[in-house]
Amino acid sequence: GGDFSQKIDYVFKVVLIGDSAVGKSQLLARFARNEFTLESKATIGVEFQTKTLIIDQKTVKAQIWDTAGQERYRAVTSAYYRGAVGAMLVYDMSKRQSFDHIARWLEELRGHADKNIVIMLIGNKCDLGTLRAVPTEDAQEFAERENLYFMETSALEATNVESAFMTILTEIY
Ligand code: GTP
Ligand code: MG
Repeated sequence: GGDFSQKIDYVFKVVLIGDSAVGKSQLLARFARNEFTLESKATIGVEFQTKTLIIDQKTVKAQIWDTAGQERYRAVTSAYYRGAVGAMLVYDMSKRQSFDHIARWLEELRGHADKNIVIMLIGNKCDLGTLRAVPTEDAQEFAERENLYFMETSALEATNVESAFMTILTEIY
């Protein structure tokens, strides 16, 4: 039998932000539980899930916070960002508007979060290749200009989800 007692070396709070329906909650479900639901309901208020990982032989507890993209369901903004060391800024690559709003989300994030926060831009739903409305180069260019990491993901197909979270957590570390 193993020893299941765990000593946590670090707790990293990471927040998810972006328009409603871009797939924030499903990215989290995929990362934390390897689950995905097509009939996902809009998030109301704030939820979070944790996942414990080993990074460089240290036990890191990732505490991932997820809130509503819809203004009327959002909780108090400053409390959401407080203590966050990482952020995922998510758009839906099949919805141009969700990408156009990223600048606003980034502004809110920079207005509330610690200045050393690690930020990753995520173009989700890359499984919808034929419906692409945001060229990879546009997002890449934006990310470079704003000093963000960037990845395209699919929560549905589990493409790059683990990799995106691991990149941000490793960079925080
Ligand atoms: P709010 O909670 O309202 O802010 O939305 P959200 O960003 O949490 O979106 P959610 O995760 O609930 O996903 C919205 C819809 O997109 C659901 O129908 C999901 O099944 C679908 N979805 C999420 N990720 C993907 C993906 O990678 N590919 C495809 N095709 N659909 C996805
Ligand atoms: Mg949600």
